[in-house]
Amino acid sequence: MCGIMGYAGPRAAAPLLLEGLRRLEYRGYDSAGIAVTNGEIHVRKAEGKIDRLAALLESDPIEGSIGIGHTRWATHGAPSDLNAHPHTDPSGEFVVVHNGIIENYLSLRERLETRGHEFTSETDTEILAHLVAEEYDGDLVAAVRRAVGRAEGAYALVVMTMHEPGKIVAVRRISPLVVGLGDGETFLASDIPAVLEHTRDFLIVEDGELVIVTKDGASIEAIDGGPIDREVLHIEWDAEQAEKGGFDHFMLKEIHEQPVVVTETLAGRLDEDGHAWLEDVEFDDYFASSLDHIWITACGTAYHAGLVGKEIFQRVLRIPTSVEYAHEMRYADPLVRPGSLTVAISQSGETADTLAAARLAKTRGSRLLALTNVVGSTLSRDADDILYTRAGPEIAVASTKAYLAMLIAEYLLALRIGRARGIVDEALAARVAHGLNLLPEHVDAALGQDASVIAAAERIVDADDIYFIGRGLDHAVAMEGSLKLKEVSYLHSEAMPAGELKHGTLALVTAGTPVITVITQGAVYDKTISAVQEVKARGGDVIAVAYEDDREIAKHADMVLRIPRADDLLGPVTAAVPLQLLAYHVARLRGHDIDQPRNLAKSVTVE
Ligand code: AGP
Repeated sequence: MCGIMGYAGPRAAAPLLLEGLRRLEYRGYDSAGIAVTNGEIHVRKAEGKIDRLAALLESDPIEGSIGIGHTRWATHGAPSDLNAHPHTDPSGEFVVVHNGIIENYLSLRERLETRGHEFTSETDTEILAHLVAEEYDGDLVAAVRRAVGRAEGAYALVVMTMHEPGKIVAVRRISPLVVGLGDGETFLASDIPAVLEHTRDFLIVEDGELVIVTKDGASIEAIDGGPIDREVLHIEWDAEQAEKGGFDHFMLKEIHEQPVVVTETLAGRLDEDGHAWLEDVEFDDYFASSLDHIWITACGTAYHAGLVGKEIFQRVLRIPTSVEYAHEMRYADPLVRPGSLTVAISQSGETADTLAAARLAKTRGSRLLALTNVVGSTLSRDADDILYTRAGPEIAVASTKAYLAMLIAEYLLALRIGRARGIVDEALAARVAHGLNLLPEHVDAALGQDASVIAAAERIVDADDIYFIGRGLDHAVAMEGSLKLKEVSYLHSEAMPAGELKHGTLALVTAGTPVITVITQGAVYDKTISAVQEVKARGGDVIAVAYEDDREIAKHADMVLRIPRADDLLGPVTAAVPLQLLAYHVARLRGHDIDQPRNLAKSVTVE
């Protein structure tokens, strides 16, 4: 996720901006840059690590005591010097940095191009510099207001102009922004740790607000106008806690970021009628209508996202879908044929096995779609089509927010293909679109059930073996819940379809054996209840994940973790959240290194 930094005060801005950006490195980035005004605007930016930017500044320094800085995590356009922020308008009089996504940037860009605007980057951000310049008539605040009035999406935007030296104007829509209040100097940042060394007093800029920063302080207003009185927040956290946003671990922080991740992954891609626009998915309606098989290949958590994809594609699209572990598929001589679509799923886009399986599918004539979180990753470069999740960098080894974003991307892909084939009619498309738009709220509500999850964690923390069961989509989620628990708690666990239990594993269920049961699928509800009864008859301890209005389950399970009622097709997205929290809390109770579990690496780039 991009990092933002700003400074207005008596000191030299460039070194302070650089230092602040270094403190935001933990957010992940692929390029960095700063702009300083001193009569004119001067920009220095470079792809790669901040050291490259520092070297550039050393050979070509800029003086001035007001400036903005940025670390970029690519979303529109690959990592490069040109795509790095800040971006200016063609005259170089206005400069912006931006975190987030401008949903309508293509139409804005086209309109600007018809008026003669030329662009030097592939970013959505550059259009914002053009818009502000176009709207400027002597009042930067008014120009920014009008410019963002034309932009849709989730973002934090920071703007300076040489015409109003001493002033930085910023707006927030969803993406975070804070103001640090120093003594005769003011800081702006996307996150508190960037400036914690200089001040402990902050103003948090909320959604829909605009802030005007000078060296003497900051004033907050509603984007639509009207002053806002914000109380100063005094921060006691140390630097390490601050990086984790006050959470004890990145894993927990990332679990809590999921409502925003869902919002961002959907942003600009779905209308209320269920039409999906996927910017880098380039196959046409003819291909979507004629494709006869979908292959999904991935490893680990991404494979589990693939299990959800398989269910959705078969259930909604009625297209035969195979989901294969990439490390198996690459050596299995798979029957991949031309006319098929291979969806390779990988958070990092660098997993060696997934790359090999994806390349194999391509050489056999399949069209290759990369579903990945990293813009410009090897997988995205190999693919014909790319569907980026917008989870931002995931730092904890155990994947959580990237997984949820993968599921959202799969629903979008199903809508894109399903509408082209005519198999998803208007009613179904609108139903799914409605359900998807409710998900941020649902995920947020599931996060609010933390106390029950802690109680469940205390119940299973000393177990020797734990089983996860479910049917259909619930089984797919159970698989991921089990992996999450193994990774961070080091407890043995195993997931299986609920109907499989009685074919062997039931022999291992004795008094007190925890059996986590995911039960959101109405069509097979009674069947899952039968499996629960089999467990209860052997004295097993059933912890269910079920809808909040499901009264029946309480008669059978020993404990129920509740999630908001949703369309059954989408229920699994929210059901994953209590399972992620459960894994986290068990690991915490057992005192493990949650963000760096033993023996595991974030990205497995070797076979
Ligand atoms: C997830 O918690 C794991 N760290 C692991 O299973 C991971 O999902 C797998 O290695 C695949 O990684 P990728 O998504 O980057 O390809």
